[in-house]
Amino acid sequence: MRKIVINGGKPLSGEVAVSGAKNSVVALIPAIILADDIVTLDGVPAISDVDSLIDIMEIMGASVKRDGETLEIDPRGVKNIPMPYGKINSLRASYYFYGSLLGRFGEATVGLPGGCDLGPRPIDLHLKAFEAMGASVSYEGESMRLATDGQPIYGAHIYMDTVSVGATINTMIAAAKAKGRTVIENAAREPEIIDVATLLNNMGAHIRGAGTDIITIDGVETLKGTRHQVIPDRIEAGTYIAMAAAIGEGVKVTNVLYEHLDSYIAKLEEMGVRMTVEEDAIFVEKQGELKAVSIKTSPYPGFATDLQQPITPLLLTAKGRGSIVDTIYEKRVNHVPELARMGAEISALGGQIVYQGPNELTGVPVKASDLRAGAALVIAGLMAKGRTEITNIEFILRGYSNIIEKLTALGADIELVND
Ligand code: UD1
Repeated sequence: MRKIVINGGKPLSGEVAVSGAKNSVVALIPAIILADDIVTLDGVPAISDVDSLIDIMEIMGASVKRDGETLEIDPRGVKNIPMPYGKINSLRASYYFYGSLLGRFGEATVGLPGGCDLGPRPIDLHLKAFEAMGASVSYEGESMRLATDGQPIYGAHIYMDTVSVGATINTMIAAAKAKGRTVIENAAREPEIIDVATLLNNMGAHIRGAGTDIITIDGVETLKGTRHQVIPDRIEAGTYIAMAAAIGEGVKVTNVLYEHLDSYIAKLEEMGVRMTVEEDAIFVEKQGELKAVSIKTSPYPGFATDLQQPITPLLLTAKGRGSIVDTIYEKRVNHVPELARMGAEISALGGQIVYQGPNELTGVPVKASDLRAGAALVIAGLMAKGRTEITNIEFILRGYSNIIEKLTALGADIELVND
């Protein structure tokens, strides 16, 4: 069993560069299936979700070359083979294969998506959109079969009942080569949606409005090869910024798009975090006393649910009482009992996390039960007195590129141990 071992209390300083966005790249890779030629991605993070997607693409017949952060994918050999089990079930984003296979072949048989347990995570909006575009949906054992009666899918007017990142991107991918016009209303507005639309448009798609709540896609017959730079990961950036504020003595986080972190930065400022925003970096100073704040997550541009857990250890250093309400995933509280075991005054009840600070944490064995809970435990371990052992670290490695190397370079005493 692999674990991360941290000897806490060492102040961090120096520079850390943010990698390409996980939530972009996990959609960009499946979207490439629609191209008639090679597509190259730059800025691809070294995370295990990418490894899994590459394996899946190769099993399907794509030819993939990876050189550092560059990924070259030739999708011409992709065959529409059923993908019921295996890596497909290991990640949430495998649902993007529904959209891309449906767009290219008019049918898909793909296993149900896996991913982090954040409470119920339905995919009904994805399926409703595909049905509106002419696909029939049926369950075959552990997988989902989407099919048309031999005709290509067609454009449709789709109103999303809930703002959903995945359903918005998936509909865009499927619609890129559909016959006619698709309009998505109440679309999600996350930067990753713009990134996927940019790739598709550079491949020759006609997508307008990505980043607003109405997206229009005029289907085209063919999509060509291109080269694309993945946007920086705003969640990874937010994680390092929180860490720097909690235990840093001058940390510069580089490759940051400040505009993607507006609501997050505003919350840090409300706490009294001292930082300087530079052109593509944020410098976080050593902090004085911080003020407890309350957080409510909401779809972009609101406070990201994915940053709720990584900011929690920083909140614990602040003076006073505050709360977190996650309106996207109200059961996203896996980090709370672990932080409480480290000595924090924090509890989760009735969809609300409540904490009282400041807290001194002590290192104990803890378990990462999902990706961002894992990030919270890494930060807590760095802050804590003594030794923290984190198990279930596969979750952390799914989403944080070279995390051990990056933290070691900042001065952390952290190591990945194979038991
Ligand atoms: C994406 C992100 C994830 C992030 C989440 C919310 C990826 C790979 N993952 O997940 O990191 O935490 O956005 O920002 O990009 N919903 C439905 N029916 C659906 C789809 C969603 O009811 O068919 C609900 C969900 O239960 C949730 C809300 O809509 O309450 C938002 O979910 P959604 O934006 O779809 O999350 P994901 O795309 O799965």
